[in-house]
Amino acid sequence: MLLEHSGHGAGFWEDLAIALVKAGRQVVRLAPFDRSATLIPGNVGTYACESLQAVLGQLPMRPVILAAGDDAAIAIDAISQHAELMASGIVLVDSKSVDARKLDLLPERLPLLMVSGVLVPVSDSMEQIARRIPHAEAVEISASTPPSCAEGFDAFSAVLIDFLERRLPRATPEYRQGSDARTLRDALGCFATGVTVMTAKDAASQPVGLTANSFTSVSLDPPLLLTCIAKSSASSEVFQMAEHFAVNVLHIGQQPTSIRFSRRNEDRFGATPWEPGLHGTPVLTGSLATFECSRHAVHDGGDHIILIGQVERARFEPRRDPLLYFRGKYRRLHFS
Ligand SMILES: Cc1cc2nc3c(=O)[nH]c(=O)nc-3n(C[C@H](O)[C@H](O)[C@H](O)COP(=O)(O)O)c2cc1C
Repeated sequence: MLLEHSGHGAGFWEDLAIALVKAGRQVVRLAPFDRSATLIPGNVGTYACESLQAVLGQLPMRPVILAAGDDAAIAIDAISQHAELMASGIVLVDSKSVDARKLDLLPERLPLLMVSGVLVPVSDSMEQIARRIPHAEAVEISASTPPSCAEGFDAFSAVLIDFLERRLPRATPEYRQGSDARTLRDALGCFATGVTVMTAKDAASQPVGLTANSFTSVSLDPPLLLTCIAKSSASSEVFQMAEHFAVNVLHIGQQPTSIRFSRRNEDRFGATPWEPGLHGTPVLTGSLATFECSRHAVHDGGDHIILIGQVERARFEPRRDPLLYFRGKYRRLHFS
């Protein structure tokens, strides 16, 4: 939970939230407290403290609370009564005004990280507080890399993510046979692939094709490759029966082609340059590589068929970058 402090700017919190999400964390962002909205005059922070307690009471899990500057005092006050029931960890950033006695009262088991020098110079008082509390971890971000620059921000987020991983490790998602297929898909999506469009001719000599990333080379001698096609696919029967088919490996500029061949109700061949190859098998013009194959074998693969092809001709374009697919998204990397 990020208690966003206006002193650190909206961009800082936005970037921090993105970095945490990328590290596999869920983030709750609380807008900066309106200090003018204090209910009890003179008792600055009471309103914010009660609001925070109300939010914490609604959450289904105990968050790690990250507070900066004088919001640290609000966070500590909010959880002080039942700290371990309300939070699973505390991170204080540039919080020199925090009351060391209150920090002392936090249970030792509650992971506590104090980071200084993030957006303001390292203060002696924060260092002293950190030294007084033996169970606190204290880290100084080097003054030469203030997080306002990208390198400094990376240093701060690395410290934070390292602390979270060590002291509050995430439960790694786990799939067990019979449990939800989504987790299995996500695990399989960790394998980065290229993207191909499989093409063949149907019985009426019309071109058919679909986007597939289940492409793998199998053997050099004989030259074999394979791909897996869902039995539910409109063209799976054509591929089972076709004597010949082609695998078109897509380059970085062919993402629209990949999208077109993966969606229903698209004029796949009408909107894509193609030409007849060996045996009249359609091949997509200008692909990164094209493998024209004869059908070698078809195996059952659960809800897919495993189509093995013997390569009759392979052509490729050495100067283009591949279209990539990773974790359910198209990715771009430039090599050439
Ligand atoms: C990046 C990507 C990879 C895919 N890989 C495969 C695959 O390997 N096998 C498959 O059967 N479908 C795969 N699909 C899904 C098919 O392209 C999609 O279901 C398509 O609509 C099937 O063709 P159909 O509409 O003619 O049945 C993939 C889709 C995308 C976007």
